[in-house]
Amino acid sequence: MRPTVIAVDPFLGVKPAERYLFYIICGPVGAYYPEGFNPISIFISDQYVRAVRGGIGEAKTGGNYAASLLAQMEAKEKGFSQVLWLDAIERKYVEEVGTMNIFFKFGDEVVTSPLTGSILPGITRDSVIQLLKKWGVKVVERLFTIDDVLKAQTEGSLSEVFGSGTAAIISPVGSIRYKDKDFQIGDGKTGQLSQKIYDHLLALQYGYEEDTFGWIEKIG
Ligand SMILES: Cc1ncc(COP(=O)(O)O)c(C=O)c1O
Repeated sequence: MRPTVIAVDPFLGVKPAERYLFYIICGPVGAYYPEGFNPISIFISDQYVRAVRGGIGEAKTGGNYAASLLAQMEAKEKGFSQVLWLDAIERKYVEEVGTMNIFFKFGDEVVTSPLTGSILPGITRDSVIQLLKKWGVKVVERLFTIDDVLKAQTEGSLSEVFGSGTAAIISPVGSIRYKDKDFQIGDGKTGQLSQKIYDHLLALQYGYEEDTFGWIEKIG
């Protein structure tokens, strides 16, 4: 379900609109990536930036996606599913993927970027954090750099990477390209934790699993 709002003032110019049209597009969806629930390859852009702190990166607004499309097209041409964005100022802190938030499992700790204003505060991100806490898995929201990721990958302590989003649900990441080098995550296959979260979220959505969080709303 895609809630949408557009300005409908009969006016050309730059100012906040006075009248808006709000509508919701409802439609069936299939697997978000052609890979289905299989590891995707992502590309780190060191040339472009998506959003900067103090801007509108945390809002689900078209401008953020416009700024990301060239990098996304180039990533696709190179055979990657998505772009992994670094922060726009120092270009080293891991932020999020084109349409997903992202989690890294370093040792027994799962880490995701904090909500600094330049990434979307995804509802699935929040669900993953709550689920992991409930399962007793250590989950931390903190800044971490792409160098931390590559160091952990070299040392063998980076076992899983996965994205989270309404459309993608949970999307395991099998490899990352950064500065023309490819880095495999774990054994390149879907990690145990990614699989467990994916299964659990789907079971909750389909009502196979009891919802202890109060996330399910009955409509009608
Ligand atoms: C840029 C971006 N980040 C993260 C997400 C995930 O957000 P959510 O879990 O609310 O779908 C999306 C979803 O479309 C997105 O476009």
